[in-house]
Formats: sequence, C-alpha cells, structure tokens
Amino acid sequence: MDKKVLVDQLQREIVDKNVCPELASQAHNLVIGAGNVDADIVFIGEAPGKAEDEQGLPFVGASGRFLDEMLGAAELSRSDVYITNIVKYRPPSNRDPTLEEKAEFWPYLMRQLEIIAPKVVITLGRHSGMCFIPELRISRDHGMARRVTYHGSNFLVIPLYHPAAALYNGSMRQVLVDDFVAAARLARTTR
Ligand code: URA
Repeated sequence: MDKKVLVDQLQREIVDKNVCPELASQAHNLVIGAGNVDADIVFIGEAPGKAEDEQGLPFVGASGRFLDEMLGAAELSRSDVYITNIVKYRPPSNRDPTLEEKAEFWPYLMRQLEIIAPKVVITLGRHSGMCFIPELRISRDHGMARRVTYHGSNFLVIPLYHPAAALYNGSMRQVLVDDFVAAARLARTTR
C-alpha cells in the first residue's frame, strides 16, 4: 500500500487509541511528521514546540530554520527528507516529554520507520538520541553512525546535536552542519 496512506492510518490510530490523552487534550494538533515518505533520511526530534503545535508540522520555528540551513549545506531540501518527532503532541509550556510519554509513542515511531524504511535515521538532540542509543554521550558520539536493531528492524542511526543548541553558538552551528553533510554523504553511499 502507498506509504502516505499507511502513515495517515497510523495518525488516525494514535487518535483512536487515545495515546497520551493529557497531552492530546492540551494540543492544537497531532504532529505526525512531514516530508517525503520515500526519503533515505528521516530526522527525529523530541516533541513539537509552540509553532509546530499551531501549524501541525514539525520543525517550523527557529530550530526548523536552522534545519533548513543544514539541509541546504548538503544540497537537500525538505522534500528530500522526512521529519518527525518521538512524541507527536506538544508538551505543555515546552517542558521535556516524560519517559512514559516517549514510551507510549515509541511503538508508533517504530511502525512509522518501518513504513518509510529510510537508509539513515538522524536523531536531533540528546533526548531523541538516547531513545535509540541509551548509553549515548552526545559530546562524544555526535555524527557517528551505528546499527541499531529493534524487533527485527535494523536502522543506521546517526545522533546529532539538536538544532536549538546551535541557534546562539557559532561553533556548534559548524559542528552540526559538518555532521549533517557527512551523514547525507553516508546516506547517498549506503545501500
Ligand atoms: N524541536 C523538536 O525537537 N521538534 C520540533 O518539531 C520542533 C522543535
């Protein structure tokens, strides 16, 4: 079946099964993800912020503008990649999502990745990265690819810093851009 149809079904299932009802009751939108469902690269952030909740789309605020710059540095655009989050509703007052909230959404994220079947999964930020690599130390491990297996599904995961970390830090911007350009190159050469 068409991948977009399957992702739409997954979105309806999250609503029908009443996943994280407290978050759902305070959110304007469920932010399932956006971009190309046939992409080789999937970005995974942590959870929608205010702008994302209002528009129903991931990474459309300040962090998203920097994500666009990173894509541009690798001569890619949003239509070449797919972007989503671990948690699909905005946590109130932009608090961090809880372990329970991440665990509730985890099986849906796994199914989303199985549908899209990217070559490379890029986690954005420590929290997203640690969902895939529990022993992650982002300052040591950023930009380093590793194979991660879940219930028979196999992903090449590359943990990156969160774009928000680079907004006011010039040297961090360059680290993120360099890591992403290398990750995009790896996606091109990975089968
Ligand atoms: N930060 C995230 O982790 N995800 C978004 O969608 C926006 C900001």
